[in-house]
Amino acid sequence: MTDLPADMLVIEIAEPGGPEVLRETRRPVPSPGPNEALIRIRAAGVNRPEVLQRKGLYPPPPGATDIPGLECAGEIAAVGADVASVKIGDPVCALLPGGGYGEYAVVDAGSCLRVPAGLSMEEAAALPETVFTVYANIFDDADLQPGETLLVHGGTSGIGVTAILLAKANGARVIATASSDEKTAACLKIGADAAYRYDEDKWEASIAEDGGADVVLDMAGGDFFARNLACLNPGGRHVSIAFLRGPEGAVNIFDIMRKRLRLSGSTMKARPPEEKARLAVGIQDRIWPLIENGAARPVIDKVFPLEEAAKAHERMEAGRHIGKIVLKVA
Ligand SMILES: NC(=O)c1ccc[n+]([C@@H]2O[C@H](COP(=O)([O-])OP(=O)(O)OC[C@H]3O[C@@H](n4cnc5c(N)ncnc54)[C@H](OP(=O)(O)O)[C@@H]3O)[C@@H](O)[C@H]2O)c1
Repeated sequence: MTDLPADMLVIEIAEPGGPEVLRETRRPVPSPGPNEALIRIRAAGVNRPEVLQRKGLYPPPPGATDIPGLECAGEIAAVGADVASVKIGDPVCALLPGGGYGEYAVVDAGSCLRVPAGLSMEEAAALPETVFTVYANIFDDADLQPGETLLVHGGTSGIGVTAILLAKANGARVIATASSDEKTAACLKIGADAAYRYDEDKWEASIAEDGGADVVLDMAGGDFFARNLACLNPGGRHVSIAFLRGPEGAVNIFDIMRKRLRLSGSTMKARPPEEKARLAVGIQDRIWPLIENGAARPVIDKVFPLEEAAKAHERMEAGRHIGKIVLKVA
């Protein structure tokens, strides 16, 4: 074990509320359990689930820290007795159950991935949450194949950008939606083959006429659920990861039957460590080479110092970002 300080700077959620409740404080540096590693954090990604947690709408899973932050990059500072997969000094990025908004965080060693060659700590910190989520849902679950078409809403979100990049790099066709002409143009620039304004009438008819979709990665829910099913091709798969338009959506059961559709959904945060470790192996084998050969570079919107986490949340909630917002830890 390297010499570690007794305490560290973190950003805590003082109480449920707006960005102003994100407050600097000091907490003890945590010790890794037998299967865990301690990471000295250099950068942390900012994700929508942390905004929900800050508002009191998405609590951390049982046993996890209350400090927000679902991903980071840095160096291994200590390891538990049973850890062989990483060692002190290794540069890693990791999917965290929480704790990214701080100088150190503990994580199950199986959730650590090597930093892809050629990436900065800020770029590496922007990867785990969206890459695990996109990989788990569109490749591992929905089994998107080269030549098939993916529809992803919120194409300029952290998740949307990653979905466009990874699906394209794997030989799929991608249709994205977004809320403005500027954002649909950004989707096309990132690599989408077509992009629609989601506030337009009848985008589902245009998509169906344009060959339809084989997989939908959906963060919208609500009224978009039936519209998504309407543009899915026979054998299509619909994966729900959020419900920004509401948790309830009408479904035409006959649509599901006659097109043999498959509906699924998941949250990443609640998956057990063994499941995350299995996904990490697939990601390093299948996705990291695409990042390292330049086929799928992370898109960074803006980097803020850790101490300005509230400003980072304000930017995310204003909805003007394209790609990932990142916190840099001094
Ligand atoms: N289930 C999981 O495991 C999992 C994991 C990670 C994230 N998520 C969820 O995935 C979503 C994206 O996360 P993120 O971190 O990438 O967030 P983000 O960058 O803030 O993106 C949110 C996106 O949602 C779109 N959006 C907002 N309101 C909408 C509405 N009413 N109708 C349609 N689209 C709307 C926005 O599109 P415009 O800006 O164009 O309006 C924006 O692109 C979040 O809801 C998050 O909670 C789920």
